[in-house]
Amino acid sequence: MKKTIEEHANRFSEIAGDYDDSQDSDEYRACVSLVVEHADPSEEDTVLDLGTGTGAIALALAPDADRVIARDISEGMMDEGQKKAAEQGIENVEFGEGRFREPNVEGEDIDIVVSNFAMHHLSEEEKREAIEVIAGLGPRKFVLGDVMFFGTPDPEEPFYSPEVDDPSTVGHLADVLTNNGFSLTAVERVHEQVGVLVAERYGE
Ligand SMILES: C[S@@+](CC[C@H](N)C(=O)[O-])C[C@H]1O[C@@H](n2cnc3c(N)ncnc32)[C@H](O)[C@@H]1O
Repeated sequence: MKKTIEEHANRFSEIAGDYDDSQDSDEYRACVSLVVEHADPSEEDTVLDLGTGTGAIALALAPDADRVIARDISEGMMDEGQKKAAEQGIENVEFGEGRFREPNVEGEDIDIVVSNFAMHHLSEEEKREAIEVIAGLGPRKFVLGDVMFFGTPDPEEPFYSPEVDDPSTVGHLADVLTNNGFSLTAVERVHEQVGVLVAERYGE
């Protein structure tokens, strides 16, 4: 992690009011659509959205799921999400403080975990620990949309800000996922530095 949790939380809370309007790239929108499409919850599923921000994924999945537990470190971002949920009449999304490595979901039975454009703030080792925690929650599926490198990263590309971002290669993420009992069932390349990984566990 190139900044502390508190620095990331403050940074996102400061921009929360403008966040949705600033996410106007085709790649971000494609990533959101793919995460939502692959998550594909049923009406009995509890979904956990880690790094939910203003709830782009959580609010999109809520109509199809039983519940969505939305976790983030930035109260400002979640306040925006809560406002949107109220405006849209969505009542089954529960926003609350939680981190990748401490998601604050004790006692919950999680069916699907999703995360979009958030895990790249963690270092490689922290991502490994986060994926271990996610696997330990016992979901049948984990859908990860994020900045990730399909080839040698070009630092001039817009999806990578070295001062705040710490993306991993697709290979590293795939290794950690498979080491934690997941099978990669889809790899969607949105851009050479943006993708969606679908990791599933069968028979558990
Ligand atoms: C770029 S936003 C993405 C938000 C949303 N998932 C989306 O698709 O629009 C990244 C979010 O990750 C959150 N975040 C950063 N580090 C985190 C951590 N360690 N645990 C949980 N959330 C974190 C930030 O507060 C921010 O809201």
